[in-house]
Amino acid sequence: MKGQPCPPEGFPDLYDAIADAYDRLDDWIVSEWGEKPRPERADFLQKYWASRFPAVRNVLEICCGTGLMLEQLALRGFEVSGLDRSAAMLGHARERLGPEVPLVLAELPSIPVSRQFDAVISSGAALNYMSGEDDLAATFRSVAGVLRPGGSFVFDILGRAMMDGHAGSDVWAADLGDLAFIWEFENAPSGDYCDATYTQFLHREGNPADSYEKTIELHRLYVLDPELIRRVARDSGFIDTAVHDNYTDGPAHDATLYETWTFTRA
Ligand SMILES: C[S@@+](CC[C@H](N)C(=O)[O-])C[C@H]1O[C@@H](n2cnc3c(N)ncnc32)[C@H](O)[C@@H]1O
Repeated sequence: MKGQPCPPEGFPDLYDAIADAYDRLDDWIVSEWGEKPRPERADFLQKYWASRFPAVRNVLEICCGTGLMLEQLALRGFEVSGLDRSAAMLGHARERLGPEVPLVLAELPSIPVSRQFDAVISSGAALNYMSGEDDLAATFRSVAGVLRPGGSFVFDILGRAMMDGHAGSDVWAADLGDLAFIWEFENAPSGDYCDATYTQFLHREGNPADSYEKTIELHRLYVLDPELIRRVARDSGFIDTAVHDNYTDGPAHDATLYETWTFTRA
């Protein structure tokens, strides 16, 4: 995948190993790393759209993963669609969302859909995988292409404080019984990105009690400078750019862990 370290032979592609454990891993991230719970993120979006974009009915999530956000939006009456590059993650989204929800297997910046949406979102810090200005700009242009004029684009990413907080030799680990994992973070000396090595031990139903499947994934997460995001947004035809502190009405600040960016397509 573009911008990602080349994994040693035998390592799975990004999210192939994580997919079956993702929802529980995400619960842990919400409780341990302060990510906003999905229902609260959806409440923020619903309120934000009601006050600023009352026409929002249909929503595309790029990098939708297992569909956790789309499920919350569907429960609130929105018509949802999703896109992700991982077939394994989309398989879980299909189970969660049912057969009718359009789900597209594609890798950004490509968004191969032939319709326009009232809103496009991306949740779970997925855009931190964008490897720099060219990648981000191409993605923003694709988003603008599938968003109706006056439509809303919202995404969240890890802020500088979060990336720095996981710097150097920080290691996080958890033993949840049939699932255990270790996250090892190492910031690039340049400060431009952070490499995260994720080691997972998963007990699968039907296997002997002491048998765990071990897999390792390597993830490179990029720091996205606010000035870069503003410039790319402007050049791609977005206006009304704002950055909120973790799905609240308050503006992002130096200690913000999760930035929630909002834009309008001109
Ligand atoms: C942390 S998960 C977030 C999933 C979901 N949005 C959520 O809120 O739970 C990141 C997702 O981004 C997807 N992803 C990363 N880079 C991508 C790209 N270039 N194109 C499409 N999907 C991508 C991964 O496959 C993964 O499912």
